[in-house]
Amino acid sequence: MRLENKVAIITGGASGIGRATVHKFVREGARVLVADINLEQAEKVVAEVTAAGFEGAAAAAQVDVSSYAEVEAMVARAVEVFGGLDVIFNNAGIAGGKPLLEHDPEVDYAPMIRIDQDGVYHGILAAGRQFRDQGRGGVIINTSSIYGEQAAELAFSYSAAKAAVISFTRSAAYELAEYGVRAVAITPGRVGTPIINQFSEELRQTFASEQMRGALTEPEEIANVVAFLASDEANVINGTVVHVDDGYSS
Ligand code: NAI
Repeated sequence: MRLENKVAIITGGASGIGRATVHKFVREGARVLVADINLEQAEKVVAEVTAAGFEGAAAAAQVDVSSYAEVEAMVARAVEVFGGLDVIFNNAGIAGGKPLLEHDPEVDYAPMIRIDQDGVYHGILAAGRQFRDQGRGGVIINTSSIYGEQAAELAFSYSAAKAAVISFTRSAAYELAEYGVRAVAITPGRVGTPIINQFSEELRQTFASEQMRGALTEPEEIANVVAFLASDEANVINGTVVHVDDGYSS
């Protein structure tokens, strides 16, 4: 029970990596606010948690992470329902893209920056203020990507946003250390979630072959690492990037 008595917010908790992390956190003893733009799906995840025997350990909240006001309300909701906040997993995101010269900036750049970049900034800011006011430390985990560290086809805006997430993580660790707050970024490779499953079988095979085990990563495998990073066992991992990409970047 690595996360006993901890309260966590998981954004993008309704699907994929976020959903798997909700289940893992609850099994490790945490109480979790499942925060997502898709409230219906978030409520389904809460029902799954209840069906698994953890009634009351999860609650759902609707949030669009691109709005600071909504993210602030999300943090207030976690405090109201569970009495405080110990961990925020800023994980909500969208993917996709077009070749640069085909971009319409309002369609192919701005939404990615608002959600994948600003969304993480908003989570850090709102949770950071809560952690400061509570005075009992806190952990921030941010989902970047292998593309946050390298260029890739059709990923101009996505790479920019995910690189910013790494920068935010380092700066947050630096600025919030005095409040006992840690910040860590993870860079998943190819994880079998709806973001990847939208592509053709052929492309999925290519993605799988680029990882050392020759398979897509399971969301549960990412969740295991996130639970460790959120726990006190990871106290010396701070302001850095943890590659969870099955060797893709090596
Ligand atoms: P997913 O599509 O299964 O989950 C993303 C969740 O974010 C969805 O539930 C969606 O409703 C939510 N969301 C989207 N926009 C939102 C908004 N404005 N406000 C609140 N929630 C919003 O995808 P997956 O794979 O679980 O992605 C999670 C994170 O992992 C994303 O940040 C993604 O960029 C990142 N990632 C995923 C990889 C993969 O191979 N699946 C690889 C590298 C990074």
